[in-house]
Amino acid sequence: MRVEIRAPRLSDATLYAAAVRRSAEHVGRWNPVEPDGLVDLVRRQGESLRTFLFVNTEDGGLVGSCNVANIVKGRFCNGSLGYNSYLPYNGTGRMTEGMRLVVDRCFTPESIGGLGLHRLEINVQPENHPSIGMAKRLGFRHEGYTPRMLYLQGGWRDHERFALTAEEWPGLQPNP
Ligand SMILES: CC(C)(COP(=O)(O)OP(=O)(O)OC[C@H]1O[C@@H](n2cnc3c(N)ncnc32)[C@H](O)[C@@H]1OP(=O)(O)O)[C@@H](O)C(=O)NCCC(=O)NCCS
Repeated sequence: MRVEIRAPRLSDATLYAAAVRRSAEHVGRWNPVEPDGLVDLVRRQGESLRTFLFVNTEDGGLVGSCNVANIVKGRFCNGSLGYNSYLPYNGTGRMTEGMRLVVDRCFTPESIGGLGLHRLEINVQPENHPSIGMAKRLGFRHEGYTPRMLYLQGGWRDHERFALTAEEWPGLQPNP
């Protein structure tokens, strides 16, 4: 693997800020750009939010990050994935590798270190073709269209809704 995933730490603040700043242009088109947001992100980690940083194994650089947000356990066992890739690693397939690791961790039972989820969602604005490509590459099904779903860039944005359940996940596969 070219990428490993791990929880964010307060000591990542400088690395994170630099990665988000240099990626502001492509991230800012779809997601908020918050270079100084790591401390708050670490503080908010808990039952309903788990964040993963994707680290390039060769040089320790930050490839991307993924929030598993709105986690609900009980009879739902569901979470929503939100992600950003960072320059200079975007478009190299490393983000896809990291996302596969995250999905696998989400579906792994809690008893062996996973999140024990049953269903994952990815909600994407219809014009965000790179992210729709990611959802499809990961094997997510298109479930539907949710009007005015999330407040982004100053307005309520429509989203395409993709989902995957644990039964549909083939497990980690070798890279193509
Ligand atoms: C969506 C996003 C995370 C994708 O990240 P990325 O770094 O481009 O992802 P990857 O490098 O893994 O894959 C992207 C491309 O590289 C290609 N690629 C190159 N080498 C590859 C490899 N070894 N393995 C897999 N894919 C590879 C993929 O085929 C893919 O091509 P495509 O987009 O033409 O289908 C990124 O565009 C981003 O941060 N966007 C802004 C924020 C955003 O939209 N977040 C999601 C909101 S819902």
